[in-house]
Formats: sequence, structure tokens, C-alpha cells
Amino acid sequence: MDYSIALIPGDGIGPEIVKEAKKVLDAVCRKYHHTFTYSEVLLGGASIDVHGVPLTEDAVARAKASDAVLMGSIGGDAKTSPWYQLEPSRRPEAGLLAIRKALNLFANLRPAYLYKELQKACPLKEEVIGDGFDMIIVRELTGGLYFGERKTTEENGVKTAVDTLTYNENEIRRIAVKAFDIAMKRSKKVTSVDKANVLDSSRLWRKVVEEVAADYPEVTLEHMLVDNCAMQLVHNPGQFDVILTENMFGDILSDEASMVTGSIGMLSSASLNDTKFGLYEPSHGSAPDIAGQDKANPIATILSAAMMLRYSLDLDKEADAVEAAVQKVLTEGYRTCDIMSEGCTEVGTSKMGDLIAEAV
Ligand code: IPM
Ligand code: MG
Repeated sequence: MDYSIALIPGDGIGPEIVKEAKKVLDAVCRKYHHTFTYSEVLLGGASIDVHGVPLTEDAVARAKASDAVLMGSIGGDAKTSPWYQLEPSRRPEAGLLAIRKALNLFANLRPAYLYKELQKACPLKEEVIGDGFDMIIVRELTGGLYFGERKTTEENGVKTAVDTLTYNENEIRRIAVKAFDIAMKRSKKVTSVDKANVLDSSRLWRKVVEEVAADYPEVTLEHMLVDNCAMQLVHNPGQFDVILTENMFGDILSDEASMVTGSIGMLSSASLNDTKFGLYEPSHGSAPDIAGQDKANPIATILSAAMMLRYSLDLDKEADAVEAAVQKVLTEGYRTCDIMSEGCTEVGTSKMGDLIAEAV
């Protein structure tokens, strides 16, 4: 089959990790006789350098015209990069938020899974790890604090900054439905995370999630306050299956969940709208400190490409092959430096991509 894929290399380590993911996709094409046509799209700092803005209408149009979007990472070093001299709405991150909104990507799925091979890289004690863990964070991605009205004012020499956290019931319902649908294909448990002891938006969240839960009698629903969830993730991560939460809580908890898997360099993510279309990117950032040094771990991006095959292109067998190839290379003991442990073979970004592509 023929598919068109928009590629967003982005900034920092983005271009090098996307290059490795493309290697793996090329191997998939050869083995399963598909043709992927790529169009490169500028976003973030890379777009600012060329167009002066982090996202253009043309970039959105090209993304929309594709079957799916595969992205590396965006952003630079806030202390040294000239991008951060610009006003906040013109910085790289604003481009990422804007493309998520423009493509209506309200559902962000971030799986956090502990590979047996990476147990040594996991910062938790063995008795906490137990039989390992396998959870998926379903984060609302186009509402809440990151998209509410914000402003900074000054009165009598005193500055005041305001951000607004708004959710309507439709926004809550559609993300809750996604989470329950996913739970039905997994262990049938949803933990909905909120701050209902303080926030109105969380109390509405809880009410709507309960209404949705009524349509899924087989799924166990539990509610958890976000501060408790942060603690439970390092106390007993095995208790979670699907974590459903709003935008900012999901941003924070997904970084925490990724770290307990051993490295943020391993975690993929999918951002979906209500069709099959999605944008796929690693959960980690652009790591400008190691950019261009062949040190970055490309596995999160490669696993994001696997999610793309599965969710947007309906290529399950091919997605399985990519995931199995990652597993094989880890079993054979190859590691990038972020997940290196004694007795393993350290390889760079490009070699890791080669090994996984060969294993496909
Ligand atoms: C993420 C990132 C982004 C977010 C930033 C770069 C705007 O942290 O994808 O988690 O907060 O969503
Ligand atoms: Mg984040």
C-alpha cells in the first residue's frame, strides 16, 4: 500500500532520531512491500529560523494532507538560544501547542512499560518493581491550562500573572471515551486522576468520567488525586493500567512514569483526533546538550513510528515487527548511553537505528 507521511525533524536531537526512525520504516517498506512518501514539515525553532514563526499555515496544510505525522522534538536551550528572546507566543513550544490544536489532537497516549532487560536502569528498588509494570497515560491535549486565556498585568508596580484552566463536559467526555475504549483492549482498569478536593474543573471531570464509565460495565474505574498519583507511581507502579487525566497533570505524570521505566529515551507517544489521523512523537524533549553527538536514544521515536503503523495506517503486523525488533536488539545487549548497564554493548544513535532496522 501507499501512504504519505509528514516528517517533522524539529530541533535539538530531533533530526537524528527521526532519521533512525525513517531507517526502520524503510526496512518495513522493503519487507512488507509498502511505499511511504515523506514530506518534510518545519516546526518549532527550525521554522522560526526560516519563517520567523514556529508554525506556518503551509505546515499545517501539509500535515493535514498526510496520512500521519512523525515528529522528533522541538525546542532549544532556554538560556542560550535566541528563540527564547522572542515573545512567548512565538517560541518553539507555542508551535507544538498550535499544531496539536490545529489538527484537533485531543488524545495523547503515552505508554510506560518496563522492559525486563532494562530493570537495572529503573531507579526503583526491586521489591517496588515487583513483576514490572505496563501502563498507558491518556492525557487530554488540547484543553485546560495550556490553552486557557493568559495574561500578565501590572498595577502600582506589582505584576500579576493569570492562567485559566477551563474544561467543558464535551472535552472531558471525548477523552474519557478514548481511555475506556483503550482499557477494554487491556486489563480493563481506568484510574482517573484529578484534584477534585480543590478544583471545580476536576469536580466536573469526575462527574463526566463517571457518566462515561456507566457505558463500560466491564471496566473498573477508580479516582485518584494527582498528588497521591505522583506518589503511587514510585510506590506501586504495578497498580496502574490506564491513567486518564487532564493536560497539565498528564504532562507531569507522563515524565514521571517514563523515568521509572529507566529512561525517558524509551517512551513513545501518539496524539490522535477523532479519526485515524495522528501525530507521533517521543515523550522526551529535544535534549540540545547532546544534539549532533550520536548519543541520543532513537528508540522512543522508533516505537512512536510503530504506534503510527498501528493506529493511523492499520498496519498491525508491521507495528508488531518493529516492536519485536526493538525487543530483540535489547535482548542482544545493545544499549545507548542513557540505558547502558554493565555487560552490555554501548552503541550510538545511528548504530542503534541500523540494528533495529536489520532486525525488522
Ligand atoms: C510534552 C511537552 C510539551 C507539553 C511542551 C514542549 C509544550 O512537555 O509534549 O509533554 O507540555 O505538552
Ligand atoms: Mg512534557
